[in-house]
Amino acid sequence: METIMLSPQTDENAVKTAADLILQGEVVGMPTETVYGLAANALNGDAVAKIFRAKGRPQDNPLIVHIAAFDQIYDLCPAVPPQAKLLAEAFWPGPLTMIVPKGDCIPDEVSCGLETVGIRLPSHPLARDLIRTAGVPLAAPSANTSGRPSTTTAEHVLRDMNGKIAAILDGGPCGVGVESTVVTLALDKPRLLRPGGVTLEQLETVLGEVEVDRALYEKIGDDVRVSAPGMKYRHYAPKAPVTVVRGDPQRTAEYIAAHISGPTGVLCFDEYGDLFPTCVVERFGSQNDLAAQAREVFDRLRAFDDTDVQQIWAQCPSDEGLGLAVANRIKKAAGFHVIELS
Ligand code: TXA
Ligand code: MG
Repeated sequence: METIMLSPQTDENAVKTAADLILQGEVVGMPTETVYGLAANALNGDAVAKIFRAKGRPQDNPLIVHIAAFDQIYDLCPAVPPQAKLLAEAFWPGPLTMIVPKGDCIPDEVSCGLETVGIRLPSHPLARDLIRTAGVPLAAPSANTSGRPSTTTAEHVLRDMNGKIAAILDGGPCGVGVESTVVTLALDKPRLLRPGGVTLEQLETVLGEVEVDRALYEKIGDDVRVSAPGMKYRHYAPKAPVTVVRGDPQRTAEYIAAHISGPTGVLCFDEYGDLFPTCVVERFGSQNDLAAQAREVFDRLRAFDDTDVQQIWAQCPSDEGLGLAVANRIKKAAGFHVIELS
C-alpha cells in the first residue's frame, strides 16, 4: 500500500480525503495536540483491527476513542459518571482521556474484552475537523510502531508507518508532545493510569483525591493484571538501553559525565549539554521548562536511533506538574532502570 501524505496547507480537500478513507475502513495518521494518532472508524471492528496490524500492537491493549463534541459520549457509554461532565468542563477539548463503562456499539477490537472504553475530545483543530467530517468516532492509539517512542511529526509517522496505512494528515509538530492523561472513572475512586498533558494536581482540583496507579512508578510483570494494559509493555524505547539518573540536575549531570565509556548518548537539560564532549548529546529543554521537555522528549529519544551509540544516559525532571508525565516517559524508555541520587 502506498501511504499518501495529505497536507491541508496546500490541499483544501485533505481532510475530506482522509475522512473518505476512514469511511472506507482504512487507517489514517491524524495530528492531535498531544502526539499523532493512527485513526480508524471506532465502530468498524475490521478497520480497527488494521490499526493493530500496522503498529504490531499486542491484542490485549485497548484503544482510545476520539470524539468532537461532549454529547457524543452518550452514544458510546450507557451510564456517564457525573465526574465525567465535571472533567470535561474543566479540560475538554484537551489532553485528557476518561475511562468509562462501554456501550454495546464499541467493538471488541477497540476494548479488547474490557467492559470499559477510553474517551477523549482532542483540541487539535484538524483532529476535530476529521472526526466531524467522517461523522464517526475515531479509535486512535499513538502513531508509532509498538514499543517505539510516540510520534510528534508527520515525518516520524511516515517513518514508522510507510506502506502500512492509507494516508497521513500533516498537521505539523504536536504542541504538547506527550500523550493524554488517562484517568479511570470506572473504579470506586478515580485513579490516574497515565500522567500526561493534564497534571495530577489539575485533576485533583476537580475530583478531590485521585489514586495513582503503581504502574506509573515500577515495572509490571507480564503475568500481572493491570488497569491500563498498555502500561506493562516496554515503551518509548530507543534501540540502545537507557539509564536514568534522578536528583539535583547539576549532580546528575556530573554523575553521568563521570560514568561515560564507549559510544554513548546523553539526553540532558539544555544547561548541561557541554559537559559531555565525547557523546552524542540530545538536549530536551531547559531544566525549568517542563512544557519544552514534554514537547521534545520523544523526538530526542528517536534521534539516538540514527547514531551508533551503545548506551544512553538520561536526566529527568522531578514528579511535580507536567514533570510526572515527562519523567514517566523517560523511565519507561529506560525500562525503569533508574539511579536515584539522594
Ligand atoms: O494522547 C493520546 O492519548 C494519544 C492520541 C493519539 O490521542 N493516544 C494514545 O493512545 O496515546 P495509546 O493507545 O498509545 O495509549 C492509550 C493508553 C494505553 O496505555 C491503554 O492501555 C490505555 O490507554 N487504555 C485504553 N483504553 C483503556 C481502558 N478501557 N481501560 C484502561 N486503559 C485503557
Ligand atoms: Mg502509545
